[in-house]
Amino acid sequence: MPLDYPTDPVHPLAAVTHAAPYDYYRRLAEGPSWRFDASLDCWLATGRAGVEAVLDHPACRVRPLGLALPHNLAGTPCGAIFAELVRMNEGERHAVPKQVLAHALGQVDLARLHARTLHLAQAQLPGSAARLNGAIFELPLFAVADLLGFAPAQWPALAAWTRDFVACLSPLSNGAQLAGAQVAAYALLQGFGRLLREADALPGSLVGKIVVEADAVGWQASGGLLANLVGLLSQTCDATAGLLGNAVVALRTQADLLPQLRATPPLWPVMLREVSRHDPSIHNTRRYTAEDVEFNGVRVPAGQMIVVVLASACHDAGGQVAPGFGHGRHVCPGQSIAHAIATACLQAWADGLEDMPLAWTYLPSLNARIPVFSNGEIA
Ligand code: HEM
Repeated sequence: MPLDYPTDPVHPLAAVTHAAPYDYYRRLAEGPSWRFDASLDCWLATGRAGVEAVLDHPACRVRPLGLALPHNLAGTPCGAIFAELVRMNEGERHAVPKQVLAHALGQVDLARLHARTLHLAQAQLPGSAARLNGAIFELPLFAVADLLGFAPAQWPALAAWTRDFVACLSPLSNGAQLAGAQVAAYALLQGFGRLLREADALPGSLVGKIVVEADAVGWQASGGLLANLVGLLSQTCDATAGLLGNAVVALRTQADLLPQLRATPPLWPVMLREVSRHDPSIHNTRRYTAEDVEFNGVRVPAGQMIVVVLASACHDAGGQVAPGFGHGRHVCPGQSIAHAIATACLQAWADGLEDMPLAWTYLPSLNARIPVFSNGEIA
């Protein structure tokens, strides 16, 4: 083993931003599917079988029992959004909005989305590492804001507010970031409120379609529409930036990739799917047991947190389908949209990035792998 061989991550949460975590994830997938991790004081679900069993289990919930909202968000604009997100709910408050969102997102014209994003990304070529760091967040958010029906002049503010808002979802955020998240949450609610009032005038937009579908199933009556529209931007934010950034890393580390893609352009979406599997942006998610649960003879008591190590399932030799976009009732409804956007951005930027000296580390995070680039040779 070379002296500079990176040591294993100390646990799955540290693996997210580790330079080379995938042998470790592979070994996790080969080990027991469910185990207690004393260093994190919680359970781990690993490999495809472990991950899918937890995500399928009705008693494995997205929030701890009796704590629908984190205490520090109660009575705040962030709390008003968080409490309604499909991502953070179970039962009817999850199923009805999820059906509407998934159906509306499923109808998006992906070829048109790709063409519009390609056009936008070509107009904003990132000419430096610093610009690239901004662009991997901005372009996907601009593309989704466009899809929703916002005018171009509104996109930069929406993107900035979304990045500030998602700070309230991370346990790593400090007081100043949490305060910024509240200001951003308020601004996003106002912005989407205005857009909703105009939705009648925007019949072709994604918001227009969601409103029609929500009315049809009586969702608006139960509230939450506004919050879940904000949720479409917040779910796009870190995850798609990570996919795009990790795809840039793939182009930099695999010299034969760009010539192949130039020779055979239909391979671009294939390459993005492979990045989603091999170097995914979302490495884990969490579930909480609402009652005692048994997995193949392993008993997990009620009230426990389970870290569901999606990245280990992506590297499970026995896995057919990689759950980088989740699995089961909370599976991501935005996968095709994320891939269309990331493909377009990468196609627009690949030539310009080819000769740019780039090094990278990863943004601090417990679940999202998002490169942060600097000028320099490959480390
Ligand atoms: C590369 C980009 C993306 C990745 C890797 C990703 C990944 C995920 C994952 C893993 C989940 C499930 C979380 C869990 O079960 O705990 C999820 C949920 C979700 N995602 Fe994505 N996502 C991406 C992009 C998007 C985009 C572009 C949208 C919308 C435009 C979106 C909308 C959602 C929504 C609404 C949920 C909640 C679904 C539910 O709880 O039922 N995602 N995503």
